[in-house]
Parts: sequence; C-alpha cells; structure tokens
Amino acid sequence: MPWKKSKSIREVIENNLDIPTNAEDKRYSALFSMNGQPGKPGEWLLSSGLSFAKDALSIDLSDIASRVKGGVNYLDIYPGEHYKLLASIIKNIQPAIVVEVGTHLGYSALCMKKFMPDNGRIITFDVIPWNGFEDTILAETDFDAKLEQCTDDLTKWEDVVKHRNMLENADVVFLDALKDGKQEYLFLENFSKLSFKKKCLFIFDDIRLWNMLDIWYNLDKPKLDMTSFGHWSGTGLVEWN
Ligand SMILES: C[S@@+](CC[C@H](N)C(=O)[O-])C[C@H]1O[C@@H](n2cnc3c(N)ncnc32)[C@H](O)[C@@H]1O
Repeated sequence: MPWKKSKSIREVIENNLDIPTNAEDKRYSALFSMNGQPGKPGEWLLSSGLSFAKDALSIDLSDIASRVKGGVNYLDIYPGEHYKLLASIIKNIQPAIVVEVGTHLGYSALCMKKFMPDNGRIITFDVIPWNGFEDTILAETDFDAKLEQCTDDLTKWEDVVKHRNMLENADVVFLDALKDGKQEYLFLENFSKLSFKKKCLFIFDDIRLWNMLDIWYNLDKPKLDMTSFGHWSGTGLVEWN
C-alpha cells in the first residue's frame, strides 16, 4: 500500500473552507468567550485603552508616511493598522524606555519615536539589521540617543541577559516578531524570568492570528484586546506587572 501523508486538521480546513470576504489579506482565526478566560483588564487598562484609542484619531503621521515609496499608505489607516495607536500610546505614557521586538522597515519604530519624551529611548531588536531591508524607511540619521537597534535575539536567554538591566527598566515592550507559534513562547518565557522595576505595558501584535490564539487566551495578566482600535490582525495590551 503506498504511503499516504495524513493531513493536519488545519490543512483540511484551509483547503476546503473559503474565507467569505474579498479582503486584500485574510487569515483564519477563532472566537472565544470572555467568561472563564484568564486575565481580565482592570480600571487602569480600560481607561488607558479608551484614551489611547481616542487620542489616536488626532495623531498625524504624514511626515513618516511620506517616506514610504509607493504602495498602500498603511500608516494612515486607522483603525485597521496599529501605527496611530502605537503613537498615541507613546504620547500618553511618555515612557523612558521602549523595547520593540521586530524593527523590519522601521514603520512602528518611527511612529513611536516621533512622540517619545526628550530623554526617552527606543531600543528596537531585529535579527536582520535595518539596512538589510531594501525598502526600509529608516535612515542612518534616525539612529541617535532616542533610537537604537540591536540585532541580538531575545528568544535566547544569553542575549536577554546582555540587556537585562535595560529590559527590567522598560516602560513599554512591543512584541512584533515572527508569530510563528514558537518564538512568542520563548519571548514570554524569557521575559517572565525578569523583574520589571516599573509598571510595564506590553503590546502584542497579531493576537487574532491562529498561531497567537493560545498565547493570548492563556495570558493570565490584566489584558485588553484592542483590535478594533489597532491592527486588524489583532492588537493586545497587557499590564505586565
Ligand atoms: C512584522 S515585522 C515587524 C514590523 C514592524 N514592527 C512594524 O510594525 O513596522 C517582523 C520582524 O521581526 C523580525 N524578527 C524575526 N525574528 C526575530 C527575533 N527573534 N527578534 C527580533 N526580531 C525578529 C523579522 O526579521 C521582521 O523584520
């Protein structure tokens, strides 16, 4: 009898179930009730989330959008994309230290940088240096006291240890790397071993994507799904400590 590879349930669903919209990008997700879900938002997260969403309406990112050469202007899509919400969070919190995991083309780093306080620092991590992306909107001159890039990999504990002091003093951590169903568990495991010194707000991108559902649902900390005011693929805010 010829060997036949058994299909995963996911493969069966994806090959047989059309997503009934004409959206330019569409993915599988799932719905689940709040009752019994670990991690409820408290008063601070609820009222802050409302302020972040409202203030995002008046955020102007046209200077950063003008750097994008062609294609859709994702920076100005709000809600639906997370850039104005990220900018609004930074404008509201005025953090001393922001850690970004996933620099890519620099969109989110620049949107946050624009609203950082004078002495604030963004440390953005990517395993690929910013100038390794042909369509980056970052320039050498963007890197200064307010913005630096590290190519260390925070899925690795030894790399986390190198930055331990800075990480433990972070006010905002924005997690936006691969969402491959493996990395995020490693980030969370590593961040769980740190002692954050200040109140730290974690921002999770893509929480509605299939690979992120388990992580988001089971996060047992005060958390708020901000998807309707952030990225269509899911934006989650978490009070880490
Ligand atoms: C979705 S993009 C980030 C988008 C960006 N934050 C934005 O909103 O404009 C994901 C990035 O994560 C990077 N990445 C992959 N593994 C990583 C890791 N272990 N640490 C940091 N970045 C990683 C990829 O190279 C890619 O540039």
